[in-house]
Amino acid sequence: MRLRNTPERWGAVSQLLHWSIVLLIGWLAWRGLTMVDMPATPAKIEAYARHKSLGLTLLALVAMRLAWRLFAGSPIALPGTPSWQARLALVTHAGMYLLLFAIPLSGWLFNSASGYPLQWFGLFNLPALAGRDATLAQFARQLHGYGVWLLLALVALHAAAALYHHVVRRDATLRRMLPALSRTPAPRRPMEH
Ligand code: HEM
Ligand code: HEM
Repeated sequence: MRLRNTPERWGAVSQLLHWSIVLLIGWLAWRGLTMVDMPATPAKIEAYARHKSLGLTLLALVAMRLAWRLFAGSPIALPGTPSWQARLALVTHAGMYLLLFAIPLSGWLFNSASGYPLQWFGLFNLPALAGRDATLAQFARQLHGYGVWLLLALVALHAAAALYHHVVRRDATLRRMLPALSRTPAPRRPMEH
């Protein structure tokens, strides 16, 4: 399988990043929603620390993904795609990228403005994005919380569109974001003597 994207399909790097980000978002949303109501025990501190470390990991993966997409390009739209659908896909993708940056950064900002230190899996410290500020903390917290619901709404639309293409239109939209199952054998080289 090719690492780079081709005009026909997403390459291995984009696919790996797409699907690991899907898994991470699922876990982070679940952990975020459940950790806030946990009783104040060491388990809660552990849950917050893991949520933050994996949230920062996601931020790094999204930056890598965007950089790779700009470098390696993207497959061309399938022929016959109505222009309104292409525009809607573009807006949805751009919105998801925006939120994939805004959500972890607002979590980081909330953490800083609340005066907490931030570590990545206990290995190193990250700088504070702002000084202690209760109003800013409250704003960042709301952005974080509402941003997740907005992202989940876009994801639902996005996943529904992908399934519509696969099940109703029966085109290659979803397949080209999945590893190829049937591989065409590589052309053989003539034997060298
Ligand atoms: C895309 C990545 C992330 C997702 C999807 C996510 C999701 C969530 C969700 C759903 C909540 C619960 C919100 C609520 O019910 O009020 C939450 C809370 C929280 N998140 Fe994240 N989060 C992400 C990244 C981060 C990062 C990178 C940090 C910090 C560096 C962070 C720090 C926090 C904190 C401190 C809370 C608790 C807020 C409170 O106590 O009310 N999150 N997150
Ligand atoms: C957290 C969940 C998800 C996020 C944040 C997400 C995000 C994205 C983004 C930003 C793109 C645009 C690719 C780019 O320009 O870099 C994309 C492409 C794609 N996603 Fe997702 N996605 C998610 C879940 C899903 C799910 C559940 C499916 C399938 C049911 C799916 C199927 C696809 C497909 C098929 C493409 C390629 C579209 C094309 O070739 O035009 N995604 N995704």
